[in-house]
Amino acid sequence: DATLNPLLSSNSLNATRKLPQVIIIGVKKGGTRALLEYLRLHPDIRAVGPEVHFFDRKYDNGLEWYRRKMPPTIARQITMEKTPSYFITREVPARVYNMSRDVKLLVVVRDPVTRAISDYTQTVSKKNTKKFEELAFINNATGLVDTSWSAIRIGVYAKHLERWLQYFPLSQFMFVSGEELISNPGKEMGLVQNFLGIKKVVSEKHFYFNQTKGFPCLKKKEGSSSPHCLGRTKGRAHPDIEPNVIQRLRDFYRPFNMKFYQMTGRNFNWP
Ligand code: A3P
Repeated sequence: DATLNPLLSSNSLNATRKLPQVIIIGVKKGGTRALLEYLRLHPDIRAVGPEVHFFDRKYDNGLEWYRRKMPPTIARQITMEKTPSYFITREVPARVYNMSRDVKLLVVVRDPVTRAISDYTQTVSKKNTKKFEELAFINNATGLVDTSWSAIRIGVYAKHLERWLQYFPLSQFMFVSGEELISNPGKEMGLVQNFLGIKKVVSEKHFYFNQTKGFPCLKKKEGSSSPHCLGRTKGRAHPDIEPNVIQRLRDFYRPFNMKFYQMTGRNFNWP
């Protein structure tokens, strides 16, 4: 009888790979890596490190392939992964639903204008690119926003959420504030742990503000005793964008942001 044998009932021996009960589905450049790294500090959470891209790119590999990507967990532990492109990919909600209608979905959102600039900054860091305003507007004179540019499209959160809500009730989502995750990580993580129904283990005590990095960092990384900031690709310096360009984008996003606050019941107070 395994339960009577202390060796067989010990954690590692009972650990099995399970499909995720929680997924960070978005958004790109919202602060998804920070959220995942912070959640990994929790003993009741086990997460895949790299982005899995199962539901958008590797769906044909099948659920069994997906399950094998997951870390082994014991009964009380939650299995997680994060792939930010899930939020904006048309086919994904139905596919996730087909895996589990009870899955909890975390979406880190951030002011869509800053998010677009962050996205653009990432592109520039990889390849030569036109100026931001040349990409953001169909025609700089008329100021018509180019919604086909992914850096713009991703920020229309209300539209993407509408598609998800055809499959999942709002109660299965938590919308994490990317801004709060930076300015008040302990408090925002409190809300997340509450939503996940796990003990509040990750708190303000885990963080310190690193002046050089300009972001919160962990006093101790998971499984180590030394301080840890996210890598150099997280928290890049953004280029200066003309105020009138920013203003036009703010005007463009305003109605979508209002709709999003209404849908989610959380006012993110984006400028
Ligand atoms: P920037 O690099 O534009 O500042 P993602 O992990 O989803 O790609 O999001 C990246 C963003 O996470 C960064 O965008 C940064 O603003 C934000 N972020 C949140 N907490 C952070 C932290 N502790 N260290 C670095 N970046 C953090």
